[in-house]
Amino acid sequence: MTFAERYGPWAVIAGASEGTGREFARQIAKEGVSSVLIARRSEPLAALAAEIEAEYRLRCVTACVDLAAPDAAERVFEAVGDREVGLYISNAGGDPNGEAFLDAEVGAWIDLVQRNVMTVLKCTHGFAGPMKARGRGGIMLVNSGACYGGLAMMGPYCGSKAFNLCLAEALWAELKPSGVDVLTLVMSKTDTPEFRRYMAAKGQSIPEDSASAYDVARVGLERLPYGPIKNWGEEDDQTGMTNQSAAQRRERVVAVQRMTREMMGQD
Ligand SMILES: NC(=O)c1ccc[n+]([C@@H]2O[C@H](COP(=O)([O-])OP(=O)(O)OC[C@H]3O[C@@H](n4cnc5c(N)ncnc54)[C@H](OP(=O)(O)O)[C@@H]3O)[C@@H](O)[C@H]2O)c1
Repeated sequence: MTFAERYGPWAVIAGASEGTGREFARQIAKEGVSSVLIARRSEPLAALAAEIEAEYRLRCVTACVDLAAPDAAERVFEAVGDREVGLYISNAGGDPNGEAFLDAEVGAWIDLVQRNVMTVLKCTHGFAGPMKARGRGGIMLVNSGACYGGLAMMGPYCGSKAFNLCLAEALWAELKPSGVDVLTLVMSKTDTPEFRRYMAAKGQSIPEDSASAYDVARVGLERLPYGPIKNWGEEDDQTGMTNQSAAQRRERVVAVQRMTREMMGQD
């Protein structure tokens, strides 16, 4: 199957107005798949939609939704309407706080968890069901190395990213037999406007070895059929700071699923 046959005709990109989200939209359009572009700011979304429509002759839909709002998923579903969604990319998810747990208001952490956990959970549930019924599709949860354990100054962020890691591993195992690909793309330092703003606020520039948003999106889309994890900059069998490679974690998911099936007499 071509990319468009497997993941078209529509993709939903949550967090599409800049950085990796914008790159996903461009690269998906190049493959002939239309996008519903979601973010808070209308102007960059409209500019991206116009660029894609002019270059690829594809329709784009834009919707300004605050993904941290309790009704965000419902607003995303409203924007999608009855379009057939073959690809859902959860990209928005950076930590806008960058502070010690007690130095930020609790509401700021609740917003982060709402956006990175509840909205992702609801959207994934809403889009994965029809994909399973059709026997094809893709779900990509953009992640961070923070998913592998708690780190000072980013506790709730780490927790929310760990949720995405576990959800992706579980869904990969559950949906693979139905032809739906699930990947969590574990990013490292990447040159996005948000990362630049974050570093500038701390009086720093971004490290020279930061990945480009273009490359990260390209690799994510290439690895989508080979979930559940892609660790940026590492081969499938290479261990990083966590001492676990993507291949080792995949083996764990498969081994536990096999054990559980045996225990339940399902094999
Ligand atoms: N950049 C890095 O170095 C790095 C490293 C590791 C992991 N990551 C991961 O990569 C992903 C992208 O990161 P990023 O650096 O581009 O920052 P980001 O803050 O996640 O922004 C990405 C996009 O999400 C949108 N967005 C953010 N909050 C939103 C909200 N509440 N509602 C709707 N849209 C929202 C932004 O648009 P609007 O502002 O227009 O809403 C933007 O289009 C995140 O999941 C992050 O955790 C990034």
